[in-house]
Amino acid sequence: MKSDKPLNRVEQLFNVSLNDVQNIVKAFHLEMKRGLSGRKSSLKMIPTYVDRPTGNENGKFIALDFGGTNFRILELELKGGRKTNPLKIMKFVLNKRLIKGTANDFFGFIAGCLKNFLEKRKVGIGEERNLGFTFSFPVKQTGTAAGTLVCWTKGFSVKGVMGKDVVGLLSEALARKGITNVKISALVNDTVGTLAAESYEDQNCDIGIILGTGTNACYVEELPNITKWHGPETRTNRMIVNIEWGNFNKLRLTSYDKRLDKASDNPGQQILEKMVSGMYLGEVARLVLIDLISKYLLFSDSGTGIFNKTGSFKTEHMSIIEDDESGDLTSIRTLLKKLNIPKSTLDERRTIKKTCEIVSLRGARVSAACLAAIITKMDPDLFRYHMVAIDGSVYEKHPSFSRNMKSCLQEIFGARSSRIKMVLAKDGSGKGAAVIAAVAASMQY
Ligand code: BGC
Repeated sequence: MKSDKPLNRVEQLFNVSLNDVQNIVKAFHLEMKRGLSGRKSSLKMIPTYVDRPTGNENGKFIALDFGGTNFRILELELKGGRKTNPLKIMKFVLNKRLIKGTANDFFGFIAGCLKNFLEKRKVGIGEERNLGFTFSFPVKQTGTAAGTLVCWTKGFSVKGVMGKDVVGLLSEALARKGITNVKISALVNDTVGTLAAESYEDQNCDIGIILGTGTNACYVEELPNITKWHGPETRTNRMIVNIEWGNFNKLRLTSYDKRLDKASDNPGQQILEKMVSGMYLGEVARLVLIDLISKYLLFSDSGTGIFNKTGSFKTEHMSIIEDDESGDLTSIRTLLKKLNIPKSTLDERRTIKKTCEIVSLRGARVSAACLAAIITKMDPDLFRYHMVAIDGSVYEKHPSFSRNMKSCLQEIFGARSSRIKMVLAKDGSGKGAAVIAAVAASMQY
């Protein structure tokens, strides 16, 4: 390696010290409070109209889980007594053209997949089903089964949906396909689904987080603290609040973050998401690597490979790189070959690995800081036990992400951090939509 200085500089820029963490917690609290009172805030703090399930809900439900280019349709039977029958799942892939196309084509495609699912599962015309619709974008809920899209995220820009009721649009599409036996009875964010699915089984669960292509969190808030809420009371006088934390913006940005944001589909928005989620982590690392290449720290002999192309270096690549524990960093060498860098030195591979670690470590520590803020908003002295249900590819598959989050929580809370249990809640968002459909069916509004 020519000199370690540029890499040390990058490490400093991305460092999130304990002091930074504490500042994030304070700023997050302020934004939460502003959002809950309806004042301007980067945190939308969306009331979801629903409380956690009791665990006794029962019946057969369908869930449509849509939040990225893959979406799933599920059938779930809730048995009551915190028990469920195994899920039946079908997966579909959304054509890339549809995510930038028209609302008609987009919802028509989803309705077509549901028709296919109902036929395959032999759900006859006479059999009525309630459907929970997980729609994982910022939606201002106006009822348990109604809500308008505030803005698209994660590279979506389907025309004619912003400001419209997404349940209305889906219902119209179902009618056009002749589906008359399915009633959309709940509109659910994926974080809310994740929390609901886990809390159906364990009532200690009070936070749901997604760390995947996008990122977000929800938690259980006391109704009197949601001062902008003027609706009816709930079963326990609490309500799940969708924070939309991906838009949190009280964070220190590096020049790389600023460049990424400027070139994105939604400049100025989803700032936390751009530091943390699978859609962006690889791109942040690529921007740093390009800088190191230009400073002759990398690949002076073999060109820039794919690194010059926006979006070409993926978060999955980072996971492979950080997972390589071999002395010679063999998997990294093989990956670089695939990325058009035929030759690399061990020093270069070490630099790449270190860069990826720096970028993902920041993501994990910022996420842990925001999680700490939610917990201390609910329980300032961490008096109670909290189960945090987490789903998403970054949390599940990135080798160090969950470990780094956990150690950051230990730094913040010391021994009391053992009162926080983070659990991987696989398939939670879909399963939880069915649970929320059941909760909604038991409510008056
Ligand atoms: C959306 C959230 C969603 C998160 C995780 C974000 O881009 O705004 O609503 O929960 O992605 O899927």
